[in-house]
Amino acid sequence: MKHTDIEKVLTSSDMVGTDAVVCGWVRTFRDSAQVAFLELSDGTSFRKLQVVIDKNALAVDPDATKLGASVKVEGTVVKAFKGEGNELNAKEIVLLGKCPPEFPIQKKRTTLEFLRGIPHLRLRTNTFAAVFRVRSVAAQAIHRYFHERGYYYINAPLITASDCEGAGEMFRVTTQPWNASYRTEEEYFKNDFFGVKAGLSVSGQLEGEVAATALGRIYTFGPSFRAENSNTTRHLAEFWHVEPEIAFAELPDVIEIAEDMLKYLIRAVIEECPDELAFFDRFVEQGLLEKLTHVVNSDFAVCTYTEAVSILEKENAHFEFPVHWGSDLQSEHEKFLTETVFKRPVFVTDYPKEIKSFYMKQNADGKTVAATDLLVPGIGEIIGGSEREADFDKLAAAMRERNMPMESYKQYLDLRLFGSVPHGGFGLGFERFVMYCTGMENIRDVTLFPRSVKNIM
Ligand code: 4AD
Ligand code: MG
Repeated sequence: MKHTDIEKVLTSSDMVGTDAVVCGWVRTFRDSAQVAFLELSDGTSFRKLQVVIDKNALAVDPDATKLGASVKVEGTVVKAFKGEGNELNAKEIVLLGKCPPEFPIQKKRTTLEFLRGIPHLRLRTNTFAAVFRVRSVAAQAIHRYFHERGYYYINAPLITASDCEGAGEMFRVTTQPWNASYRTEEEYFKNDFFGVKAGLSVSGQLEGEVAATALGRIYTFGPSFRAENSNTTRHLAEFWHVEPEIAFAELPDVIEIAEDMLKYLIRAVIEECPDELAFFDRFVEQGLLEKLTHVVNSDFAVCTYTEAVSILEKENAHFEFPVHWGSDLQSEHEKFLTETVFKRPVFVTDYPKEIKSFYMKQNADGKTVAATDLLVPGIGEIIGGSEREADFDKLAAAMRERNMPMESYKQYLDLRLFGSVPHGGFGLGFERFVMYCTGMENIRDVTLFPRSVKNIM
C-alpha cells in the first residue's frame, strides 16, 4: 500500500504544500461545528499526526473516527497551526478496519497491570510503543557497538546438554513422556530424542568461549531460559542475553569493556529516542534523563565483595537478610550499595568462590574468584561476568568439587588443553537494560510476551 510514514509527514519541511497518503490508527477524535480533528499514529514516531477535517468539504464515515480504528488518509501537508511540525488537511478518509467500543485501550489512563492482561493490544498505548522503540534502538546499538570494535556475532545453540551456570535452572527438552518401565533416569534419557538429558540453555557463554578462543572477540545476543521459581519484577523465564567473550582479557579488561559498552548503549538511546525519553522522564521516572546523562559522564565505582560486605554489615539491622562474609548478596543489599553508598553504577568484584559459578578464575587467595557484577540504581544486578579459569587442573578440580559430570564438559576442558589463554566476558540482561533506560519498574512491561512462573499468555 503506497503511503508515507507519519514521522516523515510530521517533520519534513519539504513536504509542506504537497499531497500525501498516510495510514494509521485513530488515537483521538475531536469534533466541532465546522472542523474535526483526528490524531493518527502508525508506529513510526512518538508524536501523532493531526488530520484536519473541513466538515463542509468532506463527509466522514463515523466508523473512521472511532478510537483504535485503522484508516488511510489522503490530504495536503501544511505547517501545523499550533506547535512544531506539520499536519494534514484531509481530502479523503478511507476506513480500513472498524474498532468497536469494546476496544480495551480507552483514552483514560489505565494501569500497567490491566495492560499486562492484554499483551496483544498494549503496544497501542504511548507507553508500550515507546518501550518497544527504545528496545529496538538498543538492540541495534548492541550490534553496532560490537561490530565497530571487531567482535564477531556468534549464534550459540539454544538446546544444550550442559548447564552453564550450574544452578539447576534448566528447562528440560524432551519428546518422551516418563513411563514406569524405565528403571533408571539414564535408561529413560537414553530413549529420549537426544539420547541424553537435554535442556534450554541458560547462557551462551560456554559456546562463546569456544568461538573466542579461535576468533578473539565475539558476542552472542539471543534468548536464555531459566526455570527460576522467582516471581520478581526482575526475572523472566525467557530473557534476552548479550554475552561478549574476549580472548587475552583479564578481569580489569572485562570491567572496562562492560562500562564502555553500557555507556555507548545509553548514549545511543538518548540520541535516537529523544521523544520517548522525554515521555518516560515526565510520566514514568522523574529525573530519568538526568540520571542517564550523569551515568554516561561519570566513572563507575569498583569495590570488592569483601569491602562491600564490611560496608553492609554496619547496616545489618535494616536488612531482611543480614550479611556476613560468604553470604550471597540479595537484591536489598545490591540496591543499598548502588543507590545509597555509591549513588552510581558499581562493579562488585572478587566474590567467594562458593557463591559463584564453576568456570570463574580462582584468585591466589584460594577463597575468591575473579568475578564481577555490575549493580545499577533502581535495578540491582544488570551485568554478571568474570575472567574464566584458564588452567586445566584448577578448572577440573572446581568441577569435581561440585560433582559435575565431567564427560559432558570434555570439550570445554579441551579449550584449557590446547593453547589455553586468559579470557573473560560478561552477560547483560537485555530486558534489565531496557528497564534502566525507560524507568519501567517491571520486567514484564519491557518484553512482548513475558514468560514467568504460571504465566504464558
Ligand atoms: O549473572 P548471570 O547468571 O551470568 C551468566 O549467565 C554468565 N554466563 C554471563 C557471562 O559471563 N557470559 O546472568 C547475566 C545477566 C544478569 O546480570 C541479569 O542481568 C540477566 O543476565 N539475567 C536475567 N534477566 C532476566 N531474567 C532472568 N531470570 C535473568 N537471569 C539473569
Ligand atoms: Mg549473576
